[in-house]
Amino acid sequence: MKADEKIVIAIDGTSASGKSTNARLVAKALGFVYVDTGAMYRTLAWYAGKSRIDVHDPKAVGQLCRQWRTKLMCVDGAVRLLVDNYFPEKEVRTDETSALVPHVAAVPKVRDWMKQKQRDCIEFGSLVMEGRDIGSNVFPETNYKFYIDAALGARSKRREAEGVNEDLAARDQRDSQRAAAPLMVPLGAVMIDTSSQTPQESSEMILDKVRSQMRDEGRID
Ligand code: DC
Repeated sequence: MKADEKIVIAIDGTSASGKSTNARLVAKALGFVYVDTGAMYRTLAWYAGKSRIDVHDPKAVGQLCRQWRTKLMCVDGAVRLLVDNYFPEKEVRTDETSALVPHVAAVPKVRDWMKQKQRDCIEFGSLVMEGRDIGSNVFPETNYKFYIDAALGARSKRREAEGVNEDLAARDQRDSQRAAAPLMVPLGAVMIDTSSQTPQESSEMILDKVRSQMRDEGRID
């Protein structure tokens, strides 16, 4: 019986596949804490831009990451990464930050730092953590791994509907081909294709799998 142990649900996948929407719905249904690890990388990318650090210089980015003053907080069931006591919620979503983030996310020292911070999030409770390397690298020991994908056309349409014009294929390629913790399907992950599914349908599929695993582990009846 492991009813008192915390659970980490790892949700990885491509850009605009529906990771965030599904992760939020699953976290809400289970009362778990939601962690958007992409937002953590975006925060560093924004901060590098603001600090006039060249994101193509891995040494400079690694040094910045060792020195910046950050704090993790849990607000309304979601984790926030604050820098200099500020939460750059809007700034991390700009086109400028989106263009900087893959470079920052490819730096091995950054990935080590992020992995530690992301593991520290367990202090807030059971987690639904979304990203690119959660099941493969950050919490490889979890029994709750999902990989979400959708056809490129469906994903591009979703981004367009949000008013964002982005070369998703190029970003996925960069995320998949980098040397440090690339985007990949983690061993043992349940694959979900959201191309023709509503968020309600896909999140119910995830919740069914999670509950069945929890039953197998004797956490629920
Ligand atoms: O999910 P997103 O678009 O907010 O992610 C922003 C960038 O950060 C994206 O280029 C991939 C990268 N990222 C990563 O390398 N590892 C993660 N765990 C999360 C995001």
